Amino acid sequence: MARLLVTGGAGFIGSNFVHHIVAHTDHTVTVLDKLTYAGNRASLAGLPADRVELVVGNIADAPLVDELFARHDAVVHYAAESHNDNSLDDPRPFLDTNVVGTYTLLEAARRHDVRLHHISTDEVYGDLELDDPQRFTETTPYNPSSPYSSTKAASDLLVRAWVRSFGVRATISNCSNNYGPFQHVEKFIPRQITNVIRGIRPKLYGTGENVRDWIHADDHSSAVLAILDRGAIGETYLIGADGEESNKDVVETILDLMGKDPGDYDLVADRPGHDLRYAIDSSRLRAELGWRPQYPGFREGLEATIRWYRDNESWWAGAKDGVEAFYASKGQ
Ligand code: NAD
Ligand code: TYD
Repeated sequence: MARLLVTGGAGFIGSNFVHHIVAHTDHTVTVLDKLTYAGNRASLAGLPADRVELVVGNIADAPLVDELFARHDAVVHYAAESHNDNSLDDPRPFLDTNVVGTYTLLEAARRHDVRLHHISTDEVYGDLELDDPQRFTETTPYNPSSPYSSTKAASDLLVRAWVRSFGVRATISNCSNNYGPFQHVEKFIPRQITNVIRGIRPKLYGTGENVRDWIHADDHSSAVLAILDRGAIGETYLIGADGEESNKDVVETILDLMGKDPGDYDLVADRPGHDLRYAIDSSRLRAELGWRPQYPGFREGLEATIRWYRDNESWWAGAKDGVEAFYASKGQ
């Protein structure tokens, strides 16, 4: 049994991880989360109070972080500003949380010699051509495109430097696009599902040909747990489930699964600097740590996710109008 500190545990992937930990281990969890617009207490509802505690606070608050590191065995660091479109609108919070926040955690890990796992994204590698046979690997050079991905790249490099210079016991994982329950309605898949529920036509940026490599959040969680248990200190692991889909195919599948005409969507203004394609080669994680994704195919995963948004309208309804007003102001 270990005492885990999970930063950003009230967000999308962090809350899925906390649910996974409660279901599959006997660890206890303290969530450190600032509850920004993206954090939601309700994502942790129903978890046992003797195993999960929520501390509302900022990862850049050094005294708070210090006090928490002193009483935990390991830290899993999910907290971030996570949305590319927001980073194009106002990059500052991305610098404060993703860079200064990660620095604050690394300094505490160094002082307390606490094991740290840093959660990152495949977007640090930039993008691929649609017909490129190569996929991202652990040795692909960093080439981030957006304020979001550049601050995530900066945070990864800080972790590497703190491992090498100060002996911090850290690992890094870079995962592809996640989907599943508890994802904010600003993101692609929940936005389109909730649009259809509300009678709004789904919105595809540009031509809709951009490709993302989808993984269910629960498979991301099992991979992180494997790295926490068996990963080699100082190493980076790529996490992906061979789930490449064009955005157009995703929207058509959502419409089809929701009983609508698959052509019933709008093409809208493209995102500036929009990455064309992401694709992950997760061979290392599979070969060295024996990890495999457990979730069935993408269509089945989408079906379950649609059911979750239909059954949990009270979880997302409060954020929907504001998100749509933000996108409408940008012609999206
Ligand atoms: P999210 O936006 O849903 O959640 C982020 C959480 O962090 C929220 O609960 C928020 O309140 C909290 N937070 C933000 N700033 C904070 C601060 N200063 N102090 C404490 N808490 C703070 O994000 P997500 O999609 O769950 O992403 C989680 C992590 O996974 C991020 O590091 C992201 O870069 C990474 N990641 C995401 C994806 C994806 O597809 N969403 C893919 C790969 C990696
Ligand atoms: P997003 O969920 O923002 O994730 P990321 O930018 O991290 O990949 O977007 C996923 C893809 O969907 C991306 O190519 C942008 C596109 N997209 C749309 O076409 N329409 C939308 O309404 C949104 C939010 C995203």
